[in-house]
Amino acid sequence: MKGLILSGGKGTRLRPLTYTRAKQLLPLANKPVLFYAIESLLEAGIRDIGIIVGDTFAEIEATVREAQSSWPEDTKITFIQQDAPLGLAHAVKTAQPFLGDDRFVMFLGDNLIGESLAERVREFDAPGCPYRCHILLAEVEDPSQFGIAELEPMPAHNPAPVDAPALVRVRRLIEKPKRPPSNLALVGVYFFDPTIFTAADAIRPSTRGELEITDAIQWLIDAGHDVRAQRLSGYWIDTGKMEDILDANRQVLLNMTESIAPTARISEDSSLTGIVVIEDGAVIENSVIRGPAIIGARTTLRNAYVGPFTSIYHDVVIETCEIEFSIVLEHSVVSNVRGRIEESLIGRHAEVHTSALKPRAHKLMLGDHSRVGILPS
Ligand code: TTP
Repeated sequence: MKGLILSGGKGTRLRPLTYTRAKQLLPLANKPVLFYAIESLLEAGIRDIGIIVGDTFAEIEATVREAQSSWPEDTKITFIQQDAPLGLAHAVKTAQPFLGDDRFVMFLGDNLIGESLAERVREFDAPGCPYRCHILLAEVEDPSQFGIAELEPMPAHNPAPVDAPALVRVRRLIEKPKRPPSNLALVGVYFFDPTIFTAADAIRPSTRGELEITDAIQWLIDAGHDVRAQRLSGYWIDTGKMEDILDANRQVLLNMTESIAPTARISEDSSLTGIVVIEDGAVIENSVIRGPAIIGARTTLRNAYVGPFTSIYHDVVIETCEIEFSIVLEHSVVSNVRGRIEESLIGRHAEVHTSALKPRAHKLMLGDHSRVGILPS
């Protein structure tokens, strides 16, 4: 069984951050979101992994290669260039030479799931497994925004069909339905056999010009193949939007174990409570950290408060200010800010500070598509 991670795409919903970085490399608890997908496949026993890449090929390859020694020795990672982001089913077609006749798990490189795939991989890979495709479903509050599954009714003796671990036959998939037949959305993790290539060849681009994976799966169903679904019992987060990234960061921080690097320096007038991770060479002076929170390598906190669900990446300075439920990326400086910063995602090399210069005004230099919320005075 092989793994295929999709890390191409456009990332338009995460601008301006995605102007300069692949969204799959945005860190959750100071680790690229893509690594959670890789590690999920590795944990399920898959060692042969292909990664679909687009324009951001070079930085994704460099970041993954740098981390490779932290994964099992027999891990094999192959990068596959997709010429243009023409859809998830197009990405599958692009990966056909790599996948060959193997069954595979496809994982969207910006998705995060809160449970092991090991058991499902074992079942789907078992000799004689009759299913061509296995999808995972998660309950969502607003089904009209997702790809939604309509399931075959279960026999009367099993009145609760979507409760794990039942594998239910799928009748239909509908993209962003006006009248949703259920609140069960397709999670970004799919199990396929090579019949998916025939499906991807048979479908036509959608109105948005992409070869949709839902259309390819619907083609399998219409051709009489057995497509099964199972409800995920852990969380599922698609980190494509800022709010979702903060939520994903929160989930990952909740599962961390406390650790303080021996090279970190923490002054006696500082206090740490809850789950806190302090990485190599960080300096904490006269500051309060309430976990879960992570402070990156060589980052300095001075006269600062860092509250729950906050990830501060490496080489950052946080001085005389308060921040919580936020992510700050590398080489940024946040200093002398009145009022607490919350629910914020601060990019790389950013500066946020109070200025004494006249005229007294908010002075902003923001990238395209930036968003700023300013406190009323
Ligand atoms: P999406 O989030 O659906 O698409 P996108 O990355 O283009 O983002 P946006 O809608 O904000 O513009 O993609 C899900 C994952 O699949 C993501 O990791 C990117 C990847 N992908 C590809 O590898 N190739 C593709 O052709 C597409 C559309 C996405």
